[in-house]
Amino acid sequence: MYGNDFSAPNGAPDDASGGLLGEVEAAEAELRAAAARGRCVGPAPDEDLAAYFTEVVDAEQKIEPRDWMPDAYRRTLIRQIAQHAHSEIIGMQPEGNWISRAPSLKRKAILLAKVQDEAGHGLYLYAAAETLGISRDELVQLLLDGRQKYSSIFNYPTLSWADVGAIGWLVDGAAIVNQVPLCRCSYGPYARAMIRVCKEESFHQRQGYEILHTLAHGTPAQQAMAQDAVDRWWYPSLAMFGPPDGDSTHSAQSMAWKIKRFSNDDLRQRFVDMCVQQAGILGLRIPDEDLRWNDERQAYDYTQPDYDELMQVISGNGPCNRERMAHRRAAHADGNWVREAAAAYAAKRAGQKETVAA
Ligand SMILES: [Fe+2]
Ligand SMILES: [Fe+2]
Repeated sequence: MYGNDFSAPNGAPDDASGGLLGEVEAAEAELRAAAARGRCVGPAPDEDLAAYFTEVVDAEQKIEPRDWMPDAYRRTLIRQIAQHAHSEIIGMQPEGNWISRAPSLKRKAILLAKVQDEAGHGLYLYAAAETLGISRDELVQLLLDGRQKYSSIFNYPTLSWADVGAIGWLVDGAAIVNQVPLCRCSYGPYARAMIRVCKEESFHQRQGYEILHTLAHGTPAQQAMAQDAVDRWWYPSLAMFGPPDGDSTHSAQSMAWKIKRFSNDDLRQRFVDMCVQQAGILGLRIPDEDLRWNDERQAYDYTQPDYDELMQVISGNGPCNRERMAHRRAAHADGNWVREAAAAYAAKRAGQKETVAA
C-alpha cells in the first residue's frame, strides 16, 4: 500500500485507487513469470515471422524491440506511447501553476514531487518509444508542430487550490484506470514502463484525495471550493476514456494485438463505480442528477460527458490549448543551451577517450 500516512475515516479503502494497485502488482508478477518461461530463442530460420509474432502475443508473452513486428503495430505503439509521453509533460503545467501558491510548505513539497514524477513518466515513455526506432527529438518536434496530440484534459484551467486535489483524485484516478491494463500490454518496454508509472500514479491519486478530504472537512468556503473543483473536473475526467466504443477508431485492432485490454466504455464505467463510493466518503457530490445504481447491470447509470466538447478540445479549441503549447515551445527554446552544452560535453569526452586510446 502506498501513502499510509493518511487513513481516511469511515471505511475508506486503504488503496484509494480501489484495488487497482493489486492489479499492477499481479501484472508485474505475470511479466516475470512470462520472462521465466519465455520463448527466448526467437523464430526458427524457416519460420514465418508473422506467425511467430502472433504466437508470442497469443501466449501472453512480450514482444521486445529486437523482435519482428507488423509495421502497423509499430506505428500504433509509437503514436500511443508518444501521445502518452506528451501528456505527462504537458500535464505538468496545470498543477505547476499552483506550486508557488500551495497553502503550506508540506503541500508545496508534495506538489513539487508530484509534478517532478510526471516529468519522470514522460521520460520513461519517450525512452520506451525510442525502442521502436524513433528518436525523442523527433517525437518532441511532432508535438511542437502539432502533428501529435496530448490528452485533452490538460487543456482545462486550474482555478483554485482545490483543483490540485480534483486533478489528483479524478485525473490521476482516470489515468490509473486507463493505464493498469497497459501493464499487461504485449509490447515489453511499454508494459514495464507502465508498471512503474502506475505505482506512482496511485500515490498521486491518493494525495489528491487527501487534499479534497481536508477541504471537504474544513470551513464552508473550503467545502464549496472542493465541490466547485469536482463539478468542473468530473465530465472532462470521464472524457479521458475517449469516445464511446461505437466511435472508437483504433480499438478493435489494438485489442487483437493485446495493446488494449478493455473498451473505452468498460473503463469509463469502472471509473464511475470507483468514484461514487469515494465521493461518499469525501462528502462531495458527483455533479450528475441521473447517477444511480442499476441492480441489473450491477453498475451505476450515469450521464455521458459531452463528446462534442471533447472533439473541440482535441482539435485545438479547448480553454487552454494555445497557452499550453506556447508555454511548451518557449520552455523547449529556453532549454536549447542545455542541449547544446550536453552535446558539446559529450563530444569533448569522446575526443578525450580517443586520445587516451591512441
Ligand atoms: Fe503521470
Ligand atoms: Fe500522475
